[in-house]
Amino acid sequence: MNVTLREGDEGDIGALMDVMENAFDPLFGEAWNAGQCLGILSLPDVWLTFAEAGDRTVGFALSRLLVDEAELLLLAVEPDVRCHGVGRALIERAVAIAVSKGAHRLLLEVRDGNQALDLYQGSGFSEIGRRRDYYRGSDGTTRDALTLARPIGDRFG
Ligand SMILES: CC(C)(COP(=O)(O)OP(=O)(O)OC[C@H]1O[C@@H](n2cnc3c(N)ncnc32)[C@H](O)[C@@H]1OP(=O)(O)O)[C@@H](O)C(=O)NCCC(=O)NCCS
Repeated sequence: MNVTLREGDEGDIGALMDVMENAFDPLFGEAWNAGQCLGILSLPDVWLTFAEAGDRTVGFALSRLLVDEAELLLLAVEPDVRCHGVGRALIERAVAIAVSKGAHRLLLEVRDGNQALDLYQGSGFSEIGRRRDYYRGSDGTTRDALTLARPIGDRFG
């Protein structure tokens, strides 16, 4: 699959929400709504990267810089194009932009049991914190929230 990456902004809210609605499991309510997305995109040091296959948007990553650390807030890929490296490419783009902004570490939070954990652990992230039963599904099940970190920049690359 030929996928290209590009940075986007508030004007891309339609494409962003299309992927958002398709990608996230509604059980844990992890998808953001348009108001939340527009709110964060209006802040400085927040960036949005899209993955596109031809004229179709197939994924995105939303990140922000907090002093000398960056945070990957959301990562999503359309279900029918998963396991083709799109998620990994979006992570590496987030790393490159975070490094260019002076970050030394990229952080993220993920629900324990999420298949994204395989991708994150295979991309150099490791667990630095855990909040017990942070996520509560609409069916009453709970999951821990894991905080993961990857050293970036300087000698880490
Ligand atoms: C997590 C997510 C972004 C991964 O996107 P992707 O494009 O499939 O990721 P990649 O193809 O780059 O995956 C790379 C590796 O991660 C693992 N992986 C990714 N998704 C997986 C899945 N659904 N099942 C099993 N392994 C998976 C595989 O080990 C894969 O390695 P491989 O390429 O050697 O097989 C996608 O599954 C998604 O949108 N999930 C729903 C939203 C979400 O939970 N986001 C993360 C929290 S914000």
